[in-house]
Amino acid sequence: MLFGATGFTGGLTAEYLAAHAPETTRWALAGRNREKLEGVRSRLATTNPRCAELPLLQAHTGDAAAIRDLADSTRVVISTAGPYILHGEPLVAACAASGTDYVDLTGEPEFVDLMWLRYHAQAERSGARIVHSCGFDSIPYDLGALFTVEQLPEGVPIALEGFVSARGTFSGGTFHSALEIMGRLRQAQRVAAQRREIEPRPKGRRVRGIRGKPHEQSDAGGWVVPFPTIDAQNVLRSARALDRYGPDFSYSHYLVAGPLPVMAGIIAAGAGFVALAQLAPARDLLGRLKDPGEGPSPEQRAKGWFRVRMVARADGTRLVTEISGGDPGYGETSKMLAESALCLAHDELPERAGQLTPAVAMGDALLARLRNAGIEFKVVE
Ligand SMILES: NC(=O)c1ccc[n+]([C@@H]2O[C@H](COP(=O)([O-])OP(=O)(O)OC[C@H]3O[C@@H](n4cnc5c(N)ncnc54)[C@H](OP(=O)(O)O)[C@@H]3O)[C@@H](O)[C@H]2O)c1
Repeated sequence: MLFGATGFTGGLTAEYLAAHAPETTRWALAGRNREKLEGVRSRLATTNPRCAELPLLQAHTGDAAAIRDLADSTRVVISTAGPYILHGEPLVAACAASGTDYVDLTGEPEFVDLMWLRYHAQAERSGARIVHSCGFDSIPYDLGALFTVEQLPEGVPIALEGFVSARGTFSGGTFHSALEIMGRLRQAQRVAAQRREIEPRPKGRRVRGIRGKPHEQSDAGGWVVPFPTIDAQNVLRSARALDRYGPDFSYSHYLVAGPLPVMAGIIAAGAGFVALAQLAPARDLLGRLKDPGEGPSPEQRAKGWFRVRMVARADGTRLVTEISGGDPGYGETSKMLAESALCLAHDELPERAGQLTPAVAMGDALLARLRNAGIEFKVVE
């Protein structure tokens, strides 16, 4: 069941499922507005006539009973209704209670930590797999790290660095979610600290995030700057859960800026955005720049691309891998999200439950699906 099908990324995810879900997959469109859902279904039916029969399920996130009915009626929920800190919790709660698998696109650390604190234990008991960040946040890094580790010998210390280059435009939903993240940094730190206090650590193994510094990295494409997104957290969570990452694993995450002046511009713009987002009136003004529901045109998306270089040092050897694809934020994101849901619905996967990263929940099965769907994972040196 695709919840949020009327939004920008939800619509693209629906189109992907309409074109690629096996005929045996039974799926439905869900959201809060029936008329808009009918519009999405009619649009899908123009390219795939079978979609004219798709069930439509209507529920508002404020109606806990209706949301629980949605979760009870399916095996896998896909949620694209963000910002997740505002709209996401009821569906996670319902899936954890009913043992229904769940995937979303969140890049909001506070939401992920809060959902772990509130529902991880319940999901472990019910058997639900709650898998956040199944889009460009954080699949290329999380599965890219898994792919890289799998090329290295077992049982050795691994130091991994990820370097992200991308071109793309963002949607209103992403912009508003970013504003929420920046405006709630203190709350996010508080919730992260609560999680750190009680979450078990791996025994006899060390897993560390290394913040890194801006520096020149010619084989990644120029100057790079530490990139404080949720991605490193997801890579490190996978490393803590899977022994295959070895006895001593570290990860640093960077954005490739290119020339030095561009890097200086990125740092200044990022700092300015964070500072403005702390002030409610400035946040309201920024929020008016882009409306929820709008997003880049097909022509803009066609020009999008991403490339992630991963550099590993292990046992005296150096290995470089690359993960690449088209439009990161929307074309490839809707593919990654839909394939994650199909993977949970159809593939043989490790027996695990609770809040899991994509690599831990789906690992090699999802890697194979994404490669089949045109996202490249390769060893370059
Ligand atoms: N890098 C990534 O991994 C990545 C990429 C893309 C998107 N995202 C995230 O995905 C989320 C969606 O982005 P988007 O651009 O698709 O946003 P959007 O176009 O604004 O869509 C939001 C969806 O949520 C629904 N919704 C909002 N409030 C709701 C409520 N109270 N009850 C039920 N439904 C509700 C909207 O329904 P209506 O149509 O009825 O308003 C719409 O379907 C954002 O959080 C964004 O950050 C992440």
